[in-house]
Amino acid sequence: PVQAVIFDLDGVITDTAEYHYEAWKALAEELSIPFTREFNEELKGISRMESLEKILVLGGKAHDYTEEQKTALADKKNEHYLTLIQNITPADVLPGINEFIAEIEAQGLKIGLASASKNAFAVLESLGLKDKFHAIVDAKTVQRGKPDPEIFLKAAHLLEVEPGACIGVEDAAAGVEAIKGAGMFAVAIGAKELFAHADLVYESTTGLSLEAILPLVR
Ligand code: BG6
Ligand code: MG
Repeated sequence: PVQAVIFDLDGVITDTAEYHYEAWKALAEELSIPFTREFNEELKGISRMESLEKILVLGGKAHDYTEEQKTALADKKNEHYLTLIQNITPADVLPGINEFIAEIEAQGLKIGLASASKNAFAVLESLGLKDKFHAIVDAKTVQRGKPDPEIFLKAAHLLEVEPGACIGVEDAAAGVEAIKGAGMFAVAIGAKELFAHADLVYESTTGLSLEAILPLVR
């Protein structure tokens, strides 16, 4: 039986995926690199430095900067991102998420977070949701980022639950791959065509229903 639900943060619990997009787009344009929403899908769930590398490769500029300059570019993106998230409040929790969390609590299941963001704690705190989580794993505590399953496996381990008894919720292709690699049931949020490997896809967080998901798990 299912014993835990492990959430991604950005784009699942709150719309910070949109802020990451805006901040990367601004930086890319400054570097004269064309940046589209379609390309942005490839950055979802991916660490800050890996995202920068992908953008530079896209622009044919992978070798134009020293490591020091790349760090400065990533810092610049993060500073922009920090200004975008500074006014986040509990009102910014995406529709349906509070109800979904209440359903999970009512079933007595554990709740975990698996986020690639170094800003995850700050965002959860601003949303007023930090206390809901029994385990929080962020980018600072894992060796390998998504799509590697490590971050979801670590969350399951901290929750003291077998991976096979976990449901993972993601809005990124790399995240769904990580959930499946961990041997968990994968719920994706977004357009169906983006998630061939998910076990279940919801177009938005609005419809999330534990009651509907549970009978589909194994
Ligand atoms: C992930 C986002 O959650 O965190 C990515 O999906 C982001 O878009 C990554 O790049 C790293 O975030 P941060 O806050 O550490 O730059
Ligand atoms: Mg995400």
